[in-house]
Amino acid sequence: MQIEPLSEALGAEVRGLDLSRPLMAAEVEAVREAFFDHHLLCFRAAPLNPGDFVRLGRHFGTPKMQLLRFQRDDAAPEVNVLESTYKSPEDKPDDLRMVRLSGWHTDDSYFATPAKATMLQGLDIPSAGGHTKFANMHKAYETLPDATRARLDGLRAVHAYDTPRAPGRAKTRTAEEAVETPDVVHPLVRTHDDTGRRAIYFNPNRTDRVDGLARGESDALLDALYDHMTGSDLQYHHEWRVGDILLWDNRSLVHAVNTDYPVGEVRRHQRILLEGGAPV
Ligand SMILES: [Fe+2]
Repeated sequence: MQIEPLSEALGAEVRGLDLSRPLMAAEVEAVREAFFDHHLLCFRAAPLNPGDFVRLGRHFGTPKMQLLRFQRDDAAPEVNVLESTYKSPEDKPDDLRMVRLSGWHTDDSYFATPAKATMLQGLDIPSAGGHTKFANMHKAYETLPDATRARLDGLRAVHAYDTPRAPGRAKTRTAEEAVETPDVVHPLVRTHDDTGRRAIYFNPNRTDRVDGLARGESDALLDALYDHMTGSDLQYHHEWRVGDILLWDNRSLVHAVNTDYPVGEVRRHQRILLEGGAPV
């Protein structure tokens, strides 16, 4: 098994690992170590059936049930199938920022205990575009001026299922799903529970405001943070092939999708989320 870095900023490809059989303990340990070093791992594979996908995920954590019921797989309910196809020209706005998926975010932050990691496999991939972009929030934190770091360290932010700060609107929730997703408060800088490394924990799609600041002051701070943390030197862009599995750390990275892919070409992934603890 070899670990090949994918960029200067983050990410590595895992080669030489046979995913069609249960992994051995030494393999899981090597993958875990690479995961903490690189924050995102790519495995090249063929599409797995949802049951096998969950079994693979269990090597790295505990798959949790995901919020949106309509996306759940019938046979393996921990798997959600995410379809992002533009089915008609009207589905694709001129301003692609209106597509929710195009906004930078970290998965699941609207829960008190967000998923520590996401495992996503490409099932259908358009002929062009649709890359997923990732940015390294450890490096973003470490490259802030000392005074900014000191200011952020004590702050907490309110995460909501939706916020008017995001250009695109969140998917509609059922009444049952809304009850499960009240606003939550998380630190704006979190300490990774496995590595102890600090990272900015700001979800531009869900973070509504900094707790205790007036709206204008909060917006100014979050806007400046956004500009810094989405710098191109902090990013890796993944160009999907059918079957690619990405396993990434939501405590370390934010991600967004390049939504400029053709109308009518199917874009579909299967996803599991691995349980995490409350950010501290
Ligand atoms: Fe996401």
